[in-house]
Amino acid sequence: MSAGRLLFALPGNEAFARRLAGELAADVEVVETRRFPDGESYVRLPVEPAGRVVDLVCTLAQPDERFLALVFAADAARELGARQVNLVAPYLAYMRQDCRFRPGESVSSVSFARLVSSTFDRLVTVDPHLHRHHALSNVYTIRADALQSAPLLAEWIGANVARPLVVGPDEESEQWAGAIAARIGAPHVVLKKVRHGDRDVEIALPEFQRWQGCQPVLVDDIASSGRTLAVAARGLVQQGFPRPVCVVVHALFGGDAFQMLSPLCGRIVSTDAVPHPTNAIALAPLIAAALRGPAPE
Ligand code: R5P
Repeated sequence: MSAGRLLFALPGNEAFARRLAGELAADVEVVETRRFPDGESYVRLPVEPAGRVVDLVCTLAQPDERFLALVFAADAARELGARQVNLVAPYLAYMRQDCRFRPGESVSSVSFARLVSSTFDRLVTVDPHLHRHHALSNVYTIRADALQSAPLLAEWIGANVARPLVVGPDEESEQWAGAIAARIGAPHVVLKKVRHGDRDVEIALPEFQRWQGCQPVLVDDIASSGRTLAVAARGLVQQGFPRPVCVVVHALFGGDAFQMLSPLCGRIVSTDAVPHPTNAIALAPLIAAALRGPAPE
């Protein structure tokens, strides 16, 4: 007999999984993991998943540390009779290396998609970095839902920022900046960025004087080194604007990125796709609505 869906949180995802389970009125458990003395991973599911739809909840910031345990948990669920094994990854890793920029490079977005597709029945994620891959279906062979957080970001900006000017720091951010601005009836501008290295970006700002009096709000999908937002923030302040509010979907903030960026911004907020002190926008209702949809046979 089927007993409804069962969420398993991978370590570090307990709080998000509980919020999601609350939305779904589903059971939630935490996958037991530890390292053997040789550094290999031990994984145990604390309850039997036979006959259940299983959702493994694991955001994929720092994926190399997490992915093997996730695969072992998914295989265990399937071997123990789960009816369906899904991956709920609010942040989906390895989407930015979407072509061979230099000879000999690995196109990790394709390799990672193959690994996930061979392990899970369905992927649910939020705002994956779709640029040269126009849809997850270009690389994922399983059902892969790319949910959009723009309405939630727009709602937060509309409620918290007076006279916002929505600024996308590069051409890829047009998809978020345009959608958010249209939703709250605000002006938006998209800047031009050239990346010279992991922590080295150059951004051209147009003449902004016609928007004086507005509060700039930088929106981007990912803050990683924080350099994109930092360079854009400095440029705005140089043009006489107040320090911008930054709104990001995925607060990765590697190394000293957050400390470096904070003094340049009026406020930084993020969704809870990746746990971080800036989390202010909850994604569980959005993901729960997608999971509540009809499950494949
Ligand atoms: C890439 O173009 C993304 O949209 C982000 O702008 C980028 O990943 C941010 O990276 P960083 O924080 O390292 O500048």
